[in-house]
Amino acid sequence: MTTHHAPEAEERRAATGRAHGKIIVTGEHAVVYGAPALALPVPALSCRATVICRDRHRPGPIRLHRDGRRPDEPAHPSGTDAPDELLRLVGAFARRAGIAEPPGLDVFLDSTVPPARGLGSSAATARATVHALDGLFATGLSDREVFELIQVAEHAAHGRASGIDALATGATGPLLLVDGRTHSPAVGADCRIVVADSGTGCATRKAVGMLRDAFTRAPGRRTEFLDRSTELTRSALGALREGRLTELGLRLTDCHALLAGLGLTTDRTDALVETALAAGALGAKMSGGGLGGCVIALAATPEAAETVAGRLAREEGVRTWTVPVARGAGDERS
Ligand code: PMV
Repeated sequence: MTTHHAPEAEERRAATGRAHGKIIVTGEHAVVYGAPALALPVPALSCRATVICRDRHRPGPIRLHRDGRRPDEPAHPSGTDAPDELLRLVGAFARRAGIAEPPGLDVFLDSTVPPARGLGSSAATARATVHALDGLFATGLSDREVFELIQVAEHAAHGRASGIDALATGATGPLLLVDGRTHSPAVGADCRIVVADSGTGCATRKAVGMLRDAFTRAPGRRTEFLDRSTELTRSALGALREGRLTELGLRLTDCHALLAGLGLTTDRTDALVETALAAGALGAKMSGGGLGGCVIALAATPEAAETVAGRLAREEGVRTWTVPVARGAGDERS
C-alpha cells in the first residue's frame, strides 16, 4: 500500500488531539449485551495527547510521557515504553494510513481524567491519541474510523467493550447508545449531575468477566437483568425528556439497586449513594464498571447540587465534579 500525504503533512512533526471524561447515567454492563445505555460527557475532565514523530521515515519505538508536561518544556523525562493498548492502536492506525512500519513516536499525555474510576480515562486517552495521529499524518479519518481505532485500544485494555466510552468521550451532550446506534436524547429541564470519585479504583474488566460467568451459569439472570436495565433506561429517558426530575432520580436509584443485586457495588459506593440521598439528591447510583469507582447524584438546581457535592466531599478521599445538563431538543423519538 502506498501513502499519499499532503505536502504540508510531510512537514508536520507534532499534532495534538483532545477528548474528555464521561459518566454512565443508566445501562452500564447491560450495554455490553446490546441493551440501551445513557451517558454524559464530562468536559471538565480533559485529556490532551500530543504526538511527536521523531523521524517520519525511520521505524522506532513508541514512547509514552504521562507527567503532564508539555513536549516543548525542557528536560522532560524520556517516557516509558507504550502499553499494549497504545501499541495496538498505533499499529491499527498505521495499517489504515498505509504505513508499513510505524515511525518512532513520542506520545505526551496531559489528562485530568482520573484513571480506573469509570470516568472513561482509557477511552479519552485513546481518542485524543487517534485525533493527534490523524492530524499528524493528515489521514482524514471518519468518525466511524476514529471510533474503531479507539475500540482497538479499549478491547486490549478492558476485554469486550460496548463502545459507549469510546463515543461519550467525544460527545458534546447526552448520548444514548442502543443497538450500536447513537442518539441525542431530549432534555426537558436543566439539571445537574454531581460526580463523586469514591477514591477507590473500579475494576471494569473484572466486573464484566464476573457478570459473564454469572450469566453463563444462570442464563435466566442475564435476561432478567437486561429486561430490567432496559426498562429503567427507557423510563429514565422519558422522565428526562419530560423534565420530570424527581422520577428521573428514582430511576437512577433503582439502577443502583439493580447493580448492587449483581454484586457490583461496594460498601463505600453504597454509603456514598446514601450520603447523596440524605443530602437531598433526587437519586444516586454507582456509575461505570463498578466494584469501586464513582457515584453520581441528580440535583434539580445549582444550589441543591452544591449541597450534595459539599456533603460528599466531606467524606475522606472523595473528590467531586458537577456536570450541568441543559434543556435541549435531541434527536431521539422513542
Ligand atoms: O469504563 P467504565 O468502567 O465506565 O465501564 C464502561 C461500562 C461497561 O458497561 C461496564 C463496559 C462497557 O464496555 O460498556
